[in-house]
Amino acid sequence: MRICVVGAGYVGLTTAATLADFGHEVQCVDIDHVKIEGLSLGFVPIYEPGLTELIDKNRKDGRLRFSSQVKESIRDYPVILIAVGTPPKEDGSSNLSSIHQVVEIVASTIQEYKIIITKSTVPPGTNEWIYQKLVEMGLDEDRFDIVSNPEFLREGTALWDILHPNKIVFGTKSDRPIKVLKKLYARGKAPYIFTSLTGAELIKYASNAFLATKISFANEMARICDAYDVDYADIAKGLGTDPRIGRHFLKAGLGFGGSCLPKDLSALKDSATRKKVETKLLDAVMAINDTQIEHYLNKLGTVLPDLAAKQITVWGVTFKPGTDDSRFSPAIALIEQLIQKGSHVHTYDPMVQLQLADVSSFADQYESVNHSDVLIIATEWEQFQKCNWSEVKSRMKGAFILDTRNCIDGKTVRREGFIYLGVGI
Ligand SMILES: NC(=O)c1ccc[n+]([C@@H]2O[C@H](COP(=O)([O-])OP(=O)(O)OC[C@H]3O[C@@H](n4cnc5c(N)ncnc54)[C@H](O)[C@@H]3O)[C@@H](O)[C@H]2O)c1
Repeated sequence: MRICVVGAGYVGLTTAATLADFGHEVQCVDIDHVKIEGLSLGFVPIYEPGLTELIDKNRKDGRLRFSSQVKESIRDYPVILIAVGTPPKEDGSSNLSSIHQVVEIVASTIQEYKIIITKSTVPPGTNEWIYQKLVEMGLDEDRFDIVSNPEFLREGTALWDILHPNKIVFGTKSDRPIKVLKKLYARGKAPYIFTSLTGAELIKYASNAFLATKISFANEMARICDAYDVDYADIAKGLGTDPRIGRHFLKAGLGFGGSCLPKDLSALKDSATRKKVETKLLDAVMAINDTQIEHYLNKLGTVLPDLAAKQITVWGVTFKPGTDDSRFSPAIALIEQLIQKGSHVHTYDPMVQLQLADVSSFADQYESVNHSDVLIIATEWEQFQKCNWSEVKSRMKGAFILDTRNCIDGKTVRREGFIYLGVGI
């Protein structure tokens, strides 16, 4: 099949590379000329394990090409897969301007029958809007099909997730595109879920809202554990062994961040509010998340009441390990709060050198802690768990470790003379 993937970001690039590897002929386009130039020369702008190799292989085999000729590519390919960004607006609703741009191009260039697949996460009603918009612009309904095909990959394991999906969701208005859609993902062994355009959009939002709810639930339980001097890890283990609950997304910590959960929760709330539906649960989930950083800084305040003029090293900048994505990272929100309190902040992350005023960013993990009063672990990179704690201790001025991810062994660091504060312990 000949497919044009629009948007060369985390979703677009990983999807384009995988579809090419499935044997399809894929053209991946983006308005970002610099990104496309780099990709055409073999430079992959994001870190995703295995992606560079997969792109290289499929470029060399001639199945994957990159272009900034967005209009011409959309015109020339029969299957258009939209993977542009849908970032949040100030009011929490989704900014759909990139989606609108792509739809305008489709409408103005379409000559033969096309299948237009929306992979971007879009609010309920968006794909119906796309359909109506194309009809209003004079397109005959026989000339196109709209498909809502939300993406569930996780950054850091994106390729594995695309190859081993637990479901493939297709929202359609008719059965006409189904044969082609099944061919598109013929290599992925997963149950198909067919629903309406809006049903597919809501499956995506409901999934992310549920995951966010589990995280806020875990965080509230960890606060209760703190108050009763109980180790939350035991509670998580007890909860996770129950198959009705499941063990995933029960880790307590700094709260959820990244470019998906916070924005999708806000967009879902916005969509509900527009239809006058109250969202008491979603509101509580957000409220807990919004106070997680304050909760941890209060915890640090119990041993170090004044953070002004203290030197604090924060390990971890990305919103989770295994990615270079620091969009809406709780680690950065924490750093900003420390700066507001007058602390001098050092940071170290294996993937990201944070460029932020008043922050000293280090390329070496050990140098970053030199003369620091406190070490805060904000992202659970594996190398933090395996580090040489006696070296860290010898370089630091103070002895406090705040582990907001419970990822290091408290006993080990206490033996080195640290005062260790963790989650729910
Ligand atoms: N990142 C994830 O983990 C993830 C997972 C599931 C779903 N999603 C959803 O997928 C969508 C894309 O997310 P992402 O993280 O890949 O975004 P991204 O910001 O990494 O990439 C978006 C790309 O689209 C390009 N673009 C914007 N407007 C364009 C246009 N008019 N024509 C061509 N290209 C254009 C941008 O230049 C950018 O390269 C979003 O709706 C997101 O919510 C993301």
